[in-house]
Amino acid sequence: MDLEKLLSDRLAPAFAAVAGGPVDPLVRRSPRADFQSDAALALARRLGRPPRDIAAAVLAHAVLDDVGVSAEVSGPGFLNLRVTDGALADLVAGLASDARLGVPPTATPQTVVVDYSAPNVAKEMHVGHLRSTVIGDAAVRLLDWLGHRVVRVNHLGDWGTPFGMLIEHLIDLGEADAAQNLSMGDLDTFYRAARVKFDADEAFQERSRLRVVALQGGDERTRRLWRLLVTQSERYFLTVYDLLDVTLSAADFRGESAYNDLLAGVVDDLDRLGLLLPSGGAGCVFPPGFTGRDGEPLPLIVRKSDGGYGYPATDLAALRQRVGELGATRLLYVVGLPQRQHFAMVFAVAEAAGWLCPPARAEHLGFGSILGTDGRMLRSRAGESVKLVGLLEEAVARATDLARSRNPELDAGTADEIGRAVGIGAIKYADLSVDRTKDYVLDWERMLALDGNTAPYLQYAYARIRSVLRRAGTAVRPDAPIVVAQPAERALAVELLGFAGVVGELERSLEFHQLAGYLHRLATAFNVFYERCPVLRATDELRESRLLLAELTARTLRQGLHLLGIRTLERM
Ligand code: ARG
Repeated sequence: MDLEKLLSDRLAPAFAAVAGGPVDPLVRRSPRADFQSDAALALARRLGRPPRDIAAAVLAHAVLDDVGVSAEVSGPGFLNLRVTDGALADLVAGLASDARLGVPPTATPQTVVVDYSAPNVAKEMHVGHLRSTVIGDAAVRLLDWLGHRVVRVNHLGDWGTPFGMLIEHLIDLGEADAAQNLSMGDLDTFYRAARVKFDADEAFQERSRLRVVALQGGDERTRRLWRLLVTQSERYFLTVYDLLDVTLSAADFRGESAYNDLLAGVVDDLDRLGLLLPSGGAGCVFPPGFTGRDGEPLPLIVRKSDGGYGYPATDLAALRQRVGELGATRLLYVVGLPQRQHFAMVFAVAEAAGWLCPPARAEHLGFGSILGTDGRMLRSRAGESVKLVGLLEEAVARATDLARSRNPELDAGTADEIGRAVGIGAIKYADLSVDRTKDYVLDWERMLALDGNTAPYLQYAYARIRSVLRRAGTAVRPDAPIVVAQPAERALAVELLGFAGVVGELERSLEFHQLAGYLHRLATAFNVFYERCPVLRATDELRESRLLLAELTARTLRQGLHLLGIRTLERM
């Protein structure tokens, strides 16, 4: 049961009666009571009446006793809402008997397509792909848990003019050697060598151009060599996904090439709809509302002046296929903010063409950059962009060292297991615990710290509870009566009851830092509870109740971290 929502539902009719129309009661957690509503203040301004009078009038209409809530007007016109101990205990008991921790599956399942990760063939994954992969994975886990039909799409960059030079380079190296290089993850060396040749050698340039034509024309040998590049890169990306512990699999690759045969049709249809305009030899759509700095309308180039189709056309074809064939009503694109305008224009064109219309809607989940401790874009010492695997390996190595130094007795296997869960967890949490649209600084010390808003703090809180439960010696009784008497017990109970509300909100907003913040508050409330309320030393009913509260906290932490793609450990 989501307490905030319950209170909101109870206050809403009372506010409506006073206001003569719907009002959001704006119920929030409050340190002064359990919850507070400040909606009377704004309403009073609107009605031109004293806020305390409004608050009192709302209270006169509100039915709250039956759910064990007492309310009073406070300050300038706040409503302070306090849930009685008994009501809290009942609600927590309800949670304890619910495998879903109060979170119901959705009543309106949707088909959701999540477009994420999307690295480029024969190119290293960089930190931007890390963010896309981690955020997309969290979205997939959440929506899946809520009962939606989720389609993962890894929109691999596997098509376009660079493949001419890449295939020619592959031929020069010899297939076997090239395949070896690529599967070893030496993608950047391969790509750069091809680029260098292309820039320096005119004959190579010409060969590359012809090779693009052969690729597009479906020449068999060329297609086979292209496939080889794609397969080797995919194999490599899968090793990164494995290390990163995300749910993307080989079945989810659906690269740009998959839409190749649809592109001409897309552009023809835009033409037929009267949306296609010639501009400098290219075919463009000018969606309303997009202008450049000079005030001129901005084009979305769907057919290039050389007759080829590029990135925007592919995204239009993909969008049409996702709505039309996959039946998606929610389309998510987890791509960095520099592509914000691209997606806004693609969505606008798709709407104009009638390919994207309610109930289907598209959202660009844009994200900021990862910065180094100097506050600038993360770069390697040689000034190149940071290789993702290197970053992940460093995280695991650092976390393994920390685990060993804290506990020198650890055997190698356990140290590795902890290092991996904590290192990867720390990377993901550092990403997911900040507002997605903001840049953030990759700071090893801070993200691996056992205190603060970090993965290790939460993982440690979980492991600690599990250790308490092991030491209890008896199984926790899921139907043990809950006692909520001490302030620390109350605070923990209220946090536990907040999980459903946070998850419910997340379904719409996909702002994972809200879940991270919640888990941090929950772990902190537990630590205070554990300090002030003896668990193992308590007796009888009290002991059973506190063990159950501890276990419920562990389950909530585990489920919450699981939704973020972060593993928990039984021991740390
Ligand atoms: N491959 C692109 C890149 O690395 C990202 C593709 C994002 N997805 C899409 N449907 N455009 O920047």
